[in-house]
Amino acid sequence: MCGIVGYVGKDNAKDVIVDGLKRLEYRGYDSAGIALIVDGELFTYKRQGKIRELEIELRRKPVYSNIGIGHTRWATHGKPDDINAHPHVDCSGKIALVHNGIIENYAELRRELLQKGHRFTSQTDTEVIVHLIEEELKNSSIFFKAFLRAVKKLHGSYALAVITLYQPDTIFVARKDSPLVIGLGDGENFVASDVPAFLSYTNRVIFLDDFELATVKSSGIFVFNFDGEEVEKKVVTIPWSLSQAEKAGYKHFMLKEINEQPRAVADTISGNLSWFREETELEGIDPFGFNRIQIVACGTSYHAGLIAKFYLENFVRIPVEVDYASEYRYRDPIVDEKTLVISITQSGETADTLAAMRLAKSKGARLLTVCNVIGSTATREADTVIYTYAGPEISVASTKAFTTQLTALFLFSLWIARERGTMKNEKIEGYLKHLLEVPSRIEAFLSLEREKGAVKQIALEFYRAKDALYLGRNVNYPIALEGALKLKEISYIHAEGYPAGEMKHGPIALIDEKVPVVFVATKGKVLDKVVSNIEEVKARKGRVIAVTNPGIKKVKELAEFIIEVPEVDEYLSPIVNVVPLQLFAYYIADFLGYDVDQPRNLAKSVTVE
Ligand code: AGP
Repeated sequence: MCGIVGYVGKDNAKDVIVDGLKRLEYRGYDSAGIALIVDGELFTYKRQGKIRELEIELRRKPVYSNIGIGHTRWATHGKPDDINAHPHVDCSGKIALVHNGIIENYAELRRELLQKGHRFTSQTDTEVIVHLIEEELKNSSIFFKAFLRAVKKLHGSYALAVITLYQPDTIFVARKDSPLVIGLGDGENFVASDVPAFLSYTNRVIFLDDFELATVKSSGIFVFNFDGEEVEKKVVTIPWSLSQAEKAGYKHFMLKEINEQPRAVADTISGNLSWFREETELEGIDPFGFNRIQIVACGTSYHAGLIAKFYLENFVRIPVEVDYASEYRYRDPIVDEKTLVISITQSGETADTLAAMRLAKSKGARLLTVCNVIGSTATREADTVIYTYAGPEISVASTKAFTTQLTALFLFSLWIARERGTMKNEKIEGYLKHLLEVPSRIEAFLSLEREKGAVKQIALEFYRAKDALYLGRNVNYPIALEGALKLKEISYIHAEGYPAGEMKHGPIALIDEKVPVVFVATKGKVLDKVVSNIEEVKARKGRVIAVTNPGIKKVKELAEFIIEVPEVDEYLSPIVNVVPLQLFAYYIADFLGYDVDQPRNLAKSVTVE
């Protein structure tokens, strides 16, 4: 996610802001920038790369200012470079703005503003906002009113901070879906995406809520709703240490990222709606340009590929092969110019996946990549890129990257089905409606878990296990694989994922009263078969843990431990069903006292063969 820091007060704004941006570095970013007001002039500095690049720039043209805004950018629209870095300024150069989030209707706003003569310099969605404010100023000389009117025209998610020569002592902020906090000092005040940015100066904060905006001066803060009415806000004292604050109070980044999944999935939907709805082009791909699909990926991303096979083969009726990238590159695959090769990679830098892409390309394939990092190698070598909007994933164990990969792949499969006419529009709209419900279903499960701790209790029962078996069928068989991988990689307990129907062909020999057997047993066309497999395990005294939906009596009667997840469409159930398995692995590793975020022997991105 992007990081925002703003300051107004008696100190040197540049130093306070740069220090604050450094405190937000853990969020991951690819460029940084700052805007300062000095003696009636607005200065902006922005550079691709790390904050030290920005500091070099700031030393070139040193200024002393008491008000400014700064930003670390995690690119979503427009590659990481100096031009696309924030802050962005309007045509007059009198307004500077930084933004965290995704503006869904930016294409339409940009068209309208271009027609009104505005000149854009970047490819970002953000830049439309600052020109929109400038346009609204034509209808009202009161900056706050223009700011409010502009913000109300935005669709999507945003945390905004603005400074302007029209009112040089004030920072204007607004928030919808992306967090924004205000730090209260003595004769100075702070704004930021996250508390660590200013925690060393003050621990008294106001958390803006959605559809609120504020004016921040050194002398005081005023908060308003979107009707322009002032609202009273509670001042909260933050009890966290700095390290706790970087994890937003969570013990580990992995737990934070598991809990970020509702937002990440929602952002991935909204970040891709513009091409899904044909408002913008999904560049580089001809929906009729291929008659077979090959998917290449590693680890968790490979499991996403296995699920995408179900989507594509069922929605588009095209044969799909899924390979571990490390195997694909040495099996001399049959590829030609009618082959679409989809690479799935969170980092965009996994060596095996990149090698598989290059091999496919050399054989004439078209390349599509599903990736979480703008500007990464995979995105530069693919013909078409579909981004996940998970934000930076810090923990080595992949969680929100996986659920957002499934989200992006589901949208792509629907899009291809519509383009090729293999699925009726009303069915596509129906699936889209179900997809839009997924974030709230994940949130419902997570809030129940935060309240009841069902998964945590079961983890306490099994954290000393030496082996574990994960079983699932059909579209949830890859979730069994993913659940097992999560447990292996952070708790070092041997775990195997298997198709439930395969158990009788060998793995059933593993079953005894010491082995936890995790079943994915949610509603679907193969549920009865899964129930029979549960009975087989019970008959051999296996200890059954079942991820299931409310009201499935036969599973409840058989399983020793039940984890209930909200019901969603069967094809979408993997996105929800994986979440308890992520938590199960997390709690077991934490009970064992292991370094959950940095497990032994593992790297976040495997950039070597
Ligand atoms: C999963 O938790 C691991 N971090 C690992 O399997 C990862 O999914 C794999 O290395 C692929 O990484 P990528 O998605 O960045 O290509």
